[in-house]
Amino acid sequence: MEFILFFLILSLSSIPVFGFTLTEFVYPNFTASNFQFVDSTGSFLVSRNGTFKAAIFNPGPEQVNFYLCVIHAESNTIIWSANGDAPVSTSGIMRLTKNGISITEKDGSFKWSTPPLKLAVYAMQLTEVGNLLLLDQFNGTLWQSFNNPTDTIVIGQKLRVGMMLSSAIAGDDLSTGRYRLSLTTSDAMLQWQGLTYWKLSMETKAYTNSNYAVEYMSVNQTGLYLFGQGGSVVVIMVNLLQSTFRIAKLDGSGQLIVISFVGSDIKRDFVGPVDGCRVPYACGGLGVCTSDVLSDNPKCSCPANFNLGSHNSSSCVPSDSSYSLPVSCHSTNHSNLSNYSSMLYIGLGYGMDYFTTDFTKPFRDGVNLSICQNLCSVDCSCLGIFYANLSGSCYKLEDEIGSIMLRTSRNDDLLGFVKTLVGVSTTLENNDNFDQEAEDFPLVAIVILPFTGIFLLMALGFILWIRSRPQRMGKIESKISQPSSPSSENLDAFSIPGLPVRFQYKQLKAATDNFKTQIGTGGFGAVYKGVLPDNTVVAVKKIINLGIQGQRDFCTEIAIIGNIHHINLVKLKGFCAQGRQRLLVYEYMNRGSLDRTLFGHAPVLEWQERVEIALGSARGLAYLHSGCEQKIVHCDVKPENILLHDNFQAKISDFGLSKLLNREESSLFTTMRGTRGYLAPEWLTSSAISDKTDVYSFGMVLLEIVSGRKNCSLRTLSHSLDDSATGDHSSSLSAQGLVYFPLFALEMHEQGRYLELADPKLEGRVSGGDVEKFVRIALCCVHEEPCLRPTMVSVVSMLEGEIPPTAPRMESLNFLRFYGRRFSEASNVEEAGGQIDAMLYPQANTSHTTSRSISNAYFSYISSQQISGPR
Ligand SMILES: *[C@@H]1O[C@H](CO)[C@@H](O)[C@H](O)[C@H]1NC(C)=O
Ligand SMILES: *[C@@H]1O[C@H](CO)[C@@H](O)[C@H](O)[C@H]1NC(C)=O
Ligand SMILES: *[C@@H]1O[C@H](CO)[C@@H](O)[C@H](O)[C@H]1NC(C)=O
Ligand SMILES: *[C@@H]1O[C@H](CO)[C@@H](O)[C@H](O)[C@H]1NC(C)=O
Ligand SMILES: *[C@@H]1O[C@H](CO)[C@@H](O)[C@H](O)[C@H]1NC(C)=O
Ligand SMILES: *[C@@H]1O[C@H](CO)[C@@H](O)[C@H](O)[C@H]1NC(C)=O
Ligand SMILES: *[C@@H]1O[C@H](CO)[C@@H](O)[C@H](O)[C@H]1NC(C)=O
Ligand SMILES: *[C@@H]1O[C@H](CO)[C@@H](O)[C@H](O)[C@H]1NC(C)=O
Ligand SMILES: *[C@@H]1O[C@H](CO)[C@@H](O)[C@H](O)[C@H]1NC(C)=O
Ligand SMILES: *[C@@H]1O[C@H](CO)[C@@H](O)[C@H](O)[C@H]1NC(C)=O
Repeated sequence: MEFILFFLILSLSSIPVFGFTLTEFVYPNFTASNFQFVDSTGSFLVSRNGTFKAAIFNPGPEQVNFYLCVIHAESNTIIWSANGDAPVSTSGIMRLTKNGISITEKDGSFKWSTPPLKLAVYAMQLTEVGNLLLLDQFNGTLWQSFNNPTDTIVIGQKLRVGMMLSSAIAGDDLSTGRYRLSLTTSDAMLQWQGLTYWKLSMETKAYTNSNYAVEYMSVNQTGLYLFGQGGSVVVIMVNLLQSTFRIAKLDGSGQLIVISFVGSDIKRDFVGPVDGCRVPYACGGLGVCTSDVLSDNPKCSCPANFNLGSHNSSSCVPSDSSYSLPVSCHSTNHSNLSNYSSMLYIGLGYGMDYFTTDFTKPFRDGVNLSICQNLCSVDCSCLGIFYANLSGSCYKLEDEIGSIMLRTSRNDDLLGFVKTLVGVSTTLENNDNFDQEAEDFPLVAIVILPFTGIFLLMALGFILWIRSRPQRMGKIESKISQPSSPSSENLDAFSIPGLPVRFQYKQLKAATDNFKTQIGTGGFGAVYKGVLPDNTVVAVKKIINLGIQGQRDFCTEIAIIGNIHHINLVKLKGFCAQGRQRLLVYEYMNRGSLDRTLFGHAPVLEWQERVEIALGSARGLAYLHSGCEQKIVHCDVKPENILLHDNFQAKISDFGLSKLLNREESSLFTTMRGTRGYLAPEWLTSSAISDKTDVYSFGMVLLEIVSGRKNCSLRTLSHSLDDSATGDHSSSLSAQGLVYFPLFALEMHEQGRYLELADPKLEGRVSGGDVEKFVRIALCCVHEEPCLRPTMVSVVSMLEGEIPPTAPRMESLNFLRFYGRRFSEASNVEEAGGQIDAMLYPQANTSHTTSRSISNAYFSYISSQQISGPR
């Protein structure tokens, strides 16, 4: 007992300021160290209401690195640190003198201090917003932490033009990391090695509000803003959900993250760039980054012919040790290259991209590949190139190579090459030997060092890696085969660095029992049910009508589509490209398509189920439009392409396929699709097709989800007819009571009679308010003017209730009245939809392009059954 007491006394005696009360101010000749304070966080200063505290704090599990920090007390989040690059031990000392703050080790070795100040320090204060101040005797601020931010800003803090945030290496290592957030007069941007890789204005959630010069960035309870005009004008804003405390932090991952804290709950409100692979060093030097939407961490691998070095590094190096990566001459480690006889460019394989190609101008345009490589060879800071074949654009990768992304932009035929140095043994004389070595690398060009000043193109070699066995899914093969020679159309010869499995035709023939059970049909061909050898049920789509262009682009598109994973998008499990056969293997959706459930004889969909379906499809589309790096416009949103799984989980199918068709085919294709009434007006005028075109179609689908009937069907609106009590006759009702539902919805919206729009099968099991919300959103989506339509991202927010539905704009909805009239007239004449739709879009008949009018005329002969798209 005495023994324990003894220890207690001993330990108490080692805490000199036991009983010290935390205050808002401390005064010079104050010292603090972690070891000195009872509070395990080592805090010595607290803001008036206790929201923030200042401490000598160790964020990691091991008690080794201590920093002077300002900490948000409730969440224990470090919002500022002083000596990030110079941590001290547990006995390190912070000292406040009249000259400012200094941090030293116990032995007096210097670690950090505030810069020289104009006047003597009277006090140090921690304010209630988290600002650490040094005050003079007149309460003037001599220095403040808010003007010297580390990686975080908080509410009330201004990050001014000229200031920047630097990422920390990790949560427990606050030394300066690789990434910077800096502010220009027009934008906030993230940079690595001085190269921009992200801009706030590009984010879909960011709205550019004015063109004034940006002065500072700040966060508040409702969003993230760039302000101009002394704070009176918002230049760019990101609206976020209300939260009492939030920070914006440049994370060690290289992403700008806005985090809100509610009690101990932490919520990420905003992440930019969303895709971790957009961060230049996400996978280390030369690592190939694959986005994984299911986890925050991107997946990394090395390109073909590279592997992780035997050294303990995160960078990829050539697998063959006789090749080495050069070091930039701007680097301190630059070695004299004269021992190497040649440089060699190793191709990175097909479908790779690099972040700079989106943000910087090419070094040179209109050159051929060998010139591009020569430009790199003569530049000792150049470590590799990306070359866009069509435009002849040459990008140099200088000083340090970051991570490689799987390509997502379709039209860029980018080729990447890494400069390597060939070991001493290789000389000009022993060519045979050289060739042998080179065989390991399906490289494209070998450039001999400019000993004589003349570049000699030694070899142009392409090696086709015939790959017959299916690739494993979900993982990039370490060996990505090279592009086939440009002229080669032999698609069988190369595989795709994407994820879907490549099947043999005979495998799919067996899986579908020789295409026995057809479960759907459409514009692309028939869909069959199949069972793979591992017993997974799949839907196999046999594609017909693929033009030559489509044949060629097939693999590129599959690589892109196969790489898209979202819970609300039907997953592409595999494909087959053999001879002229093109097949796609999708996951099987056991509840079929929405049109069957909605319009068929299935049990009635309850309102909550409709909400789920609407939300799911909206999320899927929003992801296509903005979640993926490359915007994908679906072009064919309709109930037939919304598939349902258990629990009414909706999944969008057939995305990305419209691109397989060439322009002529796709205009035909889309015109015929438009016959179903989901086609936005801009298809038939000459305006551009954009993601807003999908928004229009989604609005039409939303109306059908509300009403449980087809917008253009000839069925009568029974309850409207019965409803003789309502005096005024809607103009949407024709003589026979045929209704163009979108117009009826517009009229009911004008009169506030939302419940009349609800599916009668619901028998009132829905509130007027719920229907109103859907109808308002739907009407906004079908605005004639595409730019007045909301983005799918805001549609999702409106459906979720995060933002209120905006008010539909009548001036952009009046075209519905015209369509409605045409519809009534047409329905008197014809029975089927094709003719009606041809008439609904009168511009098409006077269209400048003959293909459109021809196709329209042509398709008016086809019954609506045939016209219905694939599912
Ligand atoms: C603070 O320290 C300085 C130098 O060590 C000394 O000159 C000064 O008198 C001290 N002030 C107080 C209030 O102790
Ligand atoms: C601090 O607390 C006082 C009294 O509790 C309150 O009036 C004041 O609004 C608080 N200040 C802040 C910034 O929370
Ligand atoms: C400095 O500010 C504090 C609190 O804000 C106040 O109590 C004090 O009187 C001020 N001192 C002077 C000299 O203005
Ligand atoms: C946040 O700032 C914006 C832009 O100045 C402003 O409109 C909004 O009201 C602010 N929010 C709060 C909660 O102060
Ligand atoms: C890599 O380095 C870490 C620490 O630097 C060490 O713990 C680990 O064992 C090393 N791994 C290899 C494979 O050398
Ligand atoms: C430079 O060389 C030093 C020692 O040789 C090594 O620790 C460091 O990692 C090298 N830096 C680079 C960028 O290779
Ligand atoms: C390499 O070093 C040798 C001698 O050390 C020198 O003669 C030669 O110029 C150097 N070459 C380069 C490219 O620096
Ligand atoms: C180059 O060769 C010289 C002698 O030939 C040698 O001293 C030097 O270490 C070599 N440099 C490299 C980088 O291998
Ligand atoms: C590239 O262009 C240069 C000059 O324009 C030309 O001399 C060279 O033959 C070209 N190389 C190839 C492979 O076309
Ligand atoms: C590169 O462009 C040329 C014409 O500019 C074309 O013939 C060739 O097929 C293209 N190569 C690749 C790999 O796309």
